[in-house]
Amino acid sequence: MSSVLSSAVLPEAYLANKHLFPPEERDLAERLIAENQRHLFENWGGPGEGDAKKQAFLKSLSAINRSYPGGLLGYIRNARELLAAAVTGSNPYEGYTPEQPEIADLTGFGEEYAQAEEAGRAAFAQTAVVLVAGGLGERLGYSGIKLDIPVEVTRGTSYLAHYAEFLRAASQTLARPIPLVIMTSQDTHAGTVASLAAHKNFGLEDGQITILRQELVPALDGVDARLALEAPCELILKPHGHGDIHMLLHTSGTAKKLAAEGIRHLLFIQDTNGQVFNAALAAIGVSELRGYDFNSIAVHRVPGEAVGGITTLVKPGAPRLTINVEYNQLDPLLRATVSPEGDVPNEKGFSRFPGNINLLVIRMDPYLRLLEASGGIIAEFVNPKFADDSRTTFKKPARLETMMQDLPKLFVSGEKVGVTIFDRAWCFSPCKNNLGEAAGKAARNSPPESASSAESDFYLAGRMKARFAGMQVTDAPVRLIQGIPFTPGPRILLQPSFALTLAEVKQKIRGGGISGAGTLILDGDIALDNVTIRDGASLVITAVRGAKVRVRDLEISGDPGYQLEELTSEEMASKSQPEYLRIRGYRIVDPGVKKIEILESGLWEVDKAGARKILPG
Ligand code: UTP
Repeated sequence: MSSVLSSAVLPEAYLANKHLFPPEERDLAERLIAENQRHLFENWGGPGEGDAKKQAFLKSLSAINRSYPGGLLGYIRNARELLAAAVTGSNPYEGYTPEQPEIADLTGFGEEYAQAEEAGRAAFAQTAVVLVAGGLGERLGYSGIKLDIPVEVTRGTSYLAHYAEFLRAASQTLARPIPLVIMTSQDTHAGTVASLAAHKNFGLEDGQITILRQELVPALDGVDARLALEAPCELILKPHGHGDIHMLLHTSGTAKKLAAEGIRHLLFIQDTNGQVFNAALAAIGVSELRGYDFNSIAVHRVPGEAVGGITTLVKPGAPRLTINVEYNQLDPLLRATVSPEGDVPNEKGFSRFPGNINLLVIRMDPYLRLLEASGGIIAEFVNPKFADDSRTTFKKPARLETMMQDLPKLFVSGEKVGVTIFDRAWCFSPCKNNLGEAAGKAARNSPPESASSAESDFYLAGRMKARFAGMQVTDAPVRLIQGIPFTPGPRILLQPSFALTLAEVKQKIRGGGISGAGTLILDGDIALDNVTIRDGASLVITAVRGAKVRVRDLEISGDPGYQLEELTSEEMASKSQPEYLRIRGYRIVDPGVKKIEILESGLWEVDKAGARKILPG
């Protein structure tokens, strides 16, 4: 390989050490030097001094060069361009007028919901689920991976197990293995792989799961896009953001492979949102029925709420853009254009610009086209904190970032973008904050988004389903646990093996009731007819595949059911308590609840007299 630069302009330290590196690494080093990155190869010891470190440094530069489309030089050039724009502080929305985006409102469970869910259930057979799980989870501060945290502690199902359960049940019902793509990062990769191995992929088939690992990107120490060093031969590396998923689906060939297997929609989900599959099928159905290329599952937001607002931006001569506008940019944009009062509430008290929660349904065909055209680099941005008004130096190194919801910024061919709004607790209740932060949010009337509020809403979704089916559901009074509101019951867990959709829940539950701190867990093909669970009691039925269970005229009371116990302050401070309990402030105790377990296939009946088989399997 011939040298890019003559030796006269190469740093002496590099020339003295270059024999340590293979030709392709030397080539990269010299191209970097030519690209204003000389400092990377200076202040080195002579040959024999820390050679392993120098070699590891070149290897890390090479790895980044390979993982980023356009290579490390591409990254530096992109950075230079974006930093130049950041210096001038140009307004990205210059000339645009905001309009309300096209909305499907599924906040109620009416006819439109039913139609969407039915269409989505069918289309789910040609959908792949993409789980972005590379985030650090700094706000939560959990020591393990977030996917391993239990979404509920009655049974102790982890987020990953919960997602896998839905996919397993859907794959069986739809007779097609639904692919799951998981994006991991340096922080989460080993933990995710270990969790999958320890649980035999949670029952998913070999080949059903694809793991894509995102890499860190180099930080930049000034507007000339010099790569920042912690010390000689040590880059400062930072996360590039969840938009990496688009790049990885492209560069790994996964998007193309899924398309070749007949996948028509991709559903993007987050690591700790146990509610997502309540709404996902209906959202996919909306994409089908309305022909959306990009559909954001979203929630109502009140004006000023710190959630990005999905907005259609219109400018003469430019393609219409429907994108997430950060809440602190939305209000000034509205004031400067169509609404001198800023973001004002509609008659129901909500902003006309729904809240983005980063749950996306993207149609495969336009997606593949965009990936091809962009190389998978989606709307990168840089957010430097300048040291002073001269806007030349940074307070701390900055890096390029990318967010998965920004994909529509590349839409220029009339792609159809829409928003589907659901009741917030139904579709989104993530576990993002530690107890202290969450209690502060609760005190300010914002969603706490803690492990406890996520669990409280997980049971709430069960109650919403049971109520919809006509069951009498009476809530227990809300309690404050560690300063966060928690509804202790009824705790209803309707597993995906019981029903995938609201319509199926309605077919399977008739009459009956549940109240207070009662618990109902149904796992398998089970139907309830006039079943009542009294405050504090529990009914748990599990049935193997192939068993069909009819439960009639049953009233459960008496024996103590699952009980919620708050952790004492000593327990909260004690490492001997599992961390997943200490991030919520309570445990749920099983005092020996009698469980009905149907272990053989066939038709079964359960009533006061017990369980009996009435037809063989
Ligand atoms: P969040 O911002 O909620 O999660 O990202 P986080 O980054 O893990 O949390 P904090 O901000 O440090 O507290 C939303 C989703 O995007 C994923 C997260 O795992 C989560 O599912 N994510 C985020 C990635 O996969 N990669 C990233 O670089 C960042």
